[in-house]
Amino acid sequence: MTTFGIDAMSFFTSNAYLDLATMAKVRNTDVNKYYVGIGQRLMGVPSVDEDIVTMAANAADKIINDQNRSQIKTIIFATESGVDQSKAAAVYLQTLLQLPNNCRAIELKQACYASTAGLHMGLGLLHRHPEQKVLLVASDIARYGLNTPAEPTQGCGAVAMVLSANPHLLSLENDTGCYTQDVMDFWRPNYSEEAFVEGKFSSKMYLALLEHTWRDYHEKSKQQFEDHAHFCFHTPVSRLAEKGYALLARLNNNTLSDAECHDKMQDVLRYGRQIGNSYTASLFISFMSLLDHAKEDLAGKRIGFYGYGSGCVAELYSGVLMKDYKKQLHTEQHQALINNRNNLSYEQYETRYNYKLPTNGGKIVLPKQQTGKFRLAGIANHKRQYELA
Ligand code: CAA
Repeated sequence: MTTFGIDAMSFFTSNAYLDLATMAKVRNTDVNKYYVGIGQRLMGVPSVDEDIVTMAANAADKIINDQNRSQIKTIIFATESGVDQSKAAAVYLQTLLQLPNNCRAIELKQACYASTAGLHMGLGLLHRHPEQKVLLVASDIARYGLNTPAEPTQGCGAVAMVLSANPHLLSLENDTGCYTQDVMDFWRPNYSEEAFVEGKFSSKMYLALLEHTWRDYHEKSKQQFEDHAHFCFHTPVSRLAEKGYALLARLNNNTLSDAECHDKMQDVLRYGRQIGNSYTASLFISFMSLLDHAKEDLAGKRIGFYGYGSGCVAELYSGVLMKDYKKQLHTEQHQALINNRNNLSYEQYETRYNYKLPTNGGKIVLPKQQTGKFRLAGIANHKRQYELA
């Protein structure tokens, strides 16, 4: 039987972070509000010559090779921090990654949910053309106002996946639970660089839709909570994902203590605690965190996935890890990426935060800050210019 799913995947994040202990001092806040209360330690801060396109290209570069390049016929780019209202960020990737011209390239938006939408859309295309492959990327920079409650939940990152028939990493199952409800819990009007958010309401909606989607998924698939070795979550903050796990357990008549949930979710949340929120990418960064850290062999095990996008749309679904999934991992590169970052002072963070690209068509040549293979060289006549670093 032909299966469909993720053949290869990798992620990328910036080379700098702010320790939330540094933020706590400046904001005169108890550091445990961040370390314990929201469960975050380090916050990824993008370089000035880095954007969603360069992060996505740097993530995808590790999984595109001479075998799969010519088979990629669709590039799907999920993001909620797009750089253009018209041109899809996916089109830049066609050039940067030297993908064939005879492909389609699109951008998808529905807050942090778009990566899950892209996954199911990509698999649908493969059912029609199993000989093709789809490149799915999710890339975001989470940006809130300085000195707002959401500020410590910023971050940045990109995930890239090659989707295929008979994949080597994860086979997706067909039954999914979906839910959509028109609410204003988090949004970013076209004229604003920062998101608007009703923080506590958004956390409430995240958990409410987890319950709705679980019920829908369970009814269709008949899978029980215990049938899943782990659950991976969209992770705006680690503590909310832990609460999500506890809720799923409770819905299935298991009452777990905070300590039990924390232990179970340790591997799923290791990267997210050090990167911060990466919006559309964060669900799959939590999946890679699990695979890169799990001591047990997960081959043949079912993993549950919860994608949530404010506004709001959510989906709960599952996949089964393939026999040789470990051969597809990039654990050493991922860990080096996380461990070799620069620890910024508060002033360095604020300088990066306040850095503005010209919006009047003026030309700017950007200083080299980021260390990936692809960078944003500058901007002129309202056009972004990318180059090999
Ligand atoms: N030691 C330990 N814990 C502490 C503490 C201390 N010294 N001080 C506070 N805490 C705890 C609090 O008790 C609280 O715990 P609970 O949530 O379990 O009640 C937690 O730390 C946070 O404290 P506050 O509620 O006082 O924090 P806040 O109001 O300043 O901000 C927030 C919290 C509203 C979530 C804010 O971080 C925010 O607005 N975040 C952005 C929105 C967000 O991430 N929403 C998530 C769902 S929406 C989504 O998923 C889409 C997306 O990506 C944005």
